[in-house]
Amino acid sequence: MRKSLFRNPRPWMMLFTGILFAFFLVACGDDTPAQYGPHTILNTAGPVADSERFLFYIILGIATTIFVIVEGLLIYSIMRYRNRPGMAEPYQNHGNLRVEVLWTVIPAVILFVVLGVTIQGLFQVSTVPAGKSITVRAVGHQWWWEFYYPDYNITTADSLHAPVGTVVNVQLYSNNVIHSFWIPALTGKTDDIPGHNNTKWFKADKTGVYYGECAEFCGAQHAHMAFNAVIDTSDNFNTWVTTQQQAAVVPATGSLEAQGAKIFSGVCTTCHGIVGHGAAGSDKGYITGYQDPKVACDDPNKACLVGPNLTHFAQRNLIAGGVLVHNRDQCQDPNHLENCNLAKWLANPQGIKPGNDMVLGVSLTPTQIKQLVAYLESLN
Ligand code: CUA
Repeated sequence: MRKSLFRNPRPWMMLFTGILFAFFLVACGDDTPAQYGPHTILNTAGPVADSERFLFYIILGIATTIFVIVEGLLIYSIMRYRNRPGMAEPYQNHGNLRVEVLWTVIPAVILFVVLGVTIQGLFQVSTVPAGKSITVRAVGHQWWWEFYYPDYNITTADSLHAPVGTVVNVQLYSNNVIHSFWIPALTGKTDDIPGHNNTKWFKADKTGVYYGECAEFCGAQHAHMAFNAVIDTSDNFNTWVTTQQQAAVVPATGSLEAQGAKIFSGVCTTCHGIVGHGAAGSDKGYITGYQDPKVACDDPNKACLVGPNLTHFAQRNLIAGGVLVHNRDQCQDPNHLENCNLAKWLANPQGIKPGNDMVLGVSLTPTQIKQLVAYLESLN
């Protein structure tokens, strides 16, 4: 006698349901550090994302209704009209004009409804509203984001700062491969295409930190090309701008920070700029970190730096495209840097983010790391 695989279906059913439920729970969990901000597209905080979420719910609602009706009819028919012993051959039906017209017209009408709301959404997100605005150039590098503010002439990395209730006009640049700019809670994705400078806008209705990331596969570390949008009150934003426009602080002679600045001049300035660093006694002169993204960074004789401008590094809350959180509190005691992510990064950038451009010919010694951390943490 053949044994059924599922003689007693209950344990299997429970196991299956349990696994399925676990998947749902995984989707619910968000233990991301606050520095990254929330990842969701459903908890929106601006008109562009609101419009996209509305479209998402409309399509989800229509698709769910169709799924339930079709699957319901299917399951009902399977049960109701299944073959039973002694049943006669059912009535053979060859076509039904009315049914065929219905199942052609109804889906066509539904698709036109979806098309209509989609086109309306396209107009909504492409019309830049009047009012206060700022411009930010978002430059996609492999693999981190550079943000340049042409009106203020400041450059930063990993964090896009903007005031609340203000239209942010974003210019999307890349001089390497295609990246895609995405802040789930504020705006959908738009590509950074080399040689084709896209633009987009978004606006945040609430202050806060919002997670952003690159949404186009751009190489080995695509997954580590995150950033965040720091949305602040107008006053706080203006303070931030004023601070960013200052040259970097010059460390006191003989201090740990000054020793770090010296190492920085010797090792780091090949790739990184610090505005005003020249004043600290470097022989490299005055270095500005912003690079025209149209200039390819492949000629060492051109004024073109591969890494981010670190002028006010200490204020940033992410490191190296968000691969690490900048936990400043762990980086203040030079004798206890065990949990300092900046120290970890300096000790082994290729181990933390394999393939990135930060290749150290010779590893930094623990003393050098201590000095560099002190210097970089002083760059408020
Ligand atoms: Cu840049 Cu993916």
